[in-house]
Amino acid sequence: MDISALKSIIEKEISSVSNIEQLEKTKISLLGRKGIISEHIDKIKTLDKEERKFFGRELNQLKEWTDKRFIELKRFYEDEEKKKRERATWIDITMPGKVPIVGKKHPITQTMEEITRIFLSLGFSVAKGPDIESDYYNFEALNIPNDHPARDMQDTFYIKKGVVLRTHTSPVQIRVMESQLPPVKIIAPGAVYRCDSDVSHTPMFHQVEGLMVDRHVRFSDLKGILSIFVQEMFGSNTPLRFRPSYFPFTEPSAEVDIGCVICSGKGCRVCKDTGWLEILGSGMVHPQVFRIVGYDPEEVSGFAFGMGVERVAMIRFGIDDIRQFFYNDIRFLSQF
Ligand code: DAH
Repeated sequence: MDISALKSIIEKEISSVSNIEQLEKTKISLLGRKGIISEHIDKIKTLDKEERKFFGRELNQLKEWTDKRFIELKRFYEDEEKKKRERATWIDITMPGKVPIVGKKHPITQTMEEITRIFLSLGFSVAKGPDIESDYYNFEALNIPNDHPARDMQDTFYIKKGVVLRTHTSPVQIRVMESQLPPVKIIAPGAVYRCDSDVSHTPMFHQVEGLMVDRHVRFSDLKGILSIFVQEMFGSNTPLRFRPSYFPFTEPSAEVDIGCVICSGKGCRVCKDTGWLEILGSGMVHPQVFRIVGYDPEEVSGFAFGMGVERVAMIRFGIDDIRQFFYNDIRFLSQF
């Protein structure tokens, strides 16, 4: 029996192992009940007594040595597996973190809040009315006669006969005056709807209505309040002008322009070479409107105005297409 030859066979077998699965197979072929070492142990019976003792001891030592090699190798491969797993799930905590994208208020919301802030500082309070409005509040009570062009189906979204999506915030004036006695000093911000769509019109847009009613309220009060507003909103050097106009619910009526903030009045594409930008409609509340809500036009007077929020935002941020506000394109919105 050649123990050293057997040992070199065992060593060769073990050294050809390269992973844990092979290790198990090789272990069985060497140490198993039908393995090479058991085969040799079986052969000991055929030897004489002295040799039996000698080879018995030799084979036992070889078996123990082999056992130990397998234990060591098993530990080695298990360690390797563990390291591999750790490498796969390793996180570099020294890497710079990702900066989360922080949401912002929509430019229309920002503008509406800024307009509201200025009027609150001038002693106005905020009133609200419904988006779905009756024909009465949207038209009738505002002295808009039945055949007025503003009632045309092309402009107004009718929900059913007598019910519309409000085409302006002016109906809030009526609701407020119906529910309280003078003095009144309110603004009413909100969405309005018109069947219209191009670079300067969207089917839904926003207005801020204003109404001030008391004894002796004059056109010069309107001018004073709006001058302060324009200076706060667009800068202290921004001029404004009143242009005679017509609204059924005011008399006299005026539209208000501000000096073009792009060209400072010299004339450019944005102001269509006029040097002026229109921002709102206004006037002195029509006596007929006062009568409808039960106020005495001999006792009180008032002014009202209605401002386009998108218009103000476009001027403020230099935007030339109103539809940009409603595409919800994050590249556009994140600039404000
Ligand atoms: N409601 C008008 C519109 O949408 C704007 C307006 C004009 C409102 C004059 C007023 C006002 O309160 O007095 O075109």
